Amino acid sequence: MPTAENLLTIATRVRENAHAPYSNFKVGAAILGKDGVIYQGCNVENVAYPEGTCAEAGAIAAMVAAGTKELTAVCVIADSPAPVPPCGGCRQKLAEFGARDVTVTLATTDGATLQTTIGDLLPGAFDMSHMERS
Ligand code: THU
Repeated sequence: MPTAENLLTIATRVRENAHAPYSNFKVGAAILGKDGVIYQGCNVENVAYPEGTCAEAGAIAAMVAAGTKELTAVCVIADSPAPVPPCGGCRQKLAEFGARDVTVTLATTDGATLQTTIGDLLPGAFDMSHMERS
């Protein structure tokens, strides 16, 4: 069974492939699918800035494309002074596919790590229940 350490190793490696010529801020993400497979992603920027995509989004897209719709662990790494917090959009994307208690490991290339959960990253998340009227 893959461990948080495996996720960190893979996120660290895929980060090198990031396309980040505008921010010079490379991010790597690795997520563990419920199928036991580790999916990876990196940020892919674009000269038309809003078209860029985050590392977490890439990893989630790879998991869904492979036919898995639930993730059970997440790791994100960047060369930042402190473990990089996922952006708001990525918090919502993680909440779409992971339960509130799923562990999210945030890491720096210097070796610092911070563990949190999807629920703590996005308290009060918008979900299906908010579209239901009885
Ligand atoms: N970025 C991510 O890939 N994930 C995050 O959670 C935070 C930000 C990327 C987007 C952009 O390419 C660069 O980092 C700077 O914002």
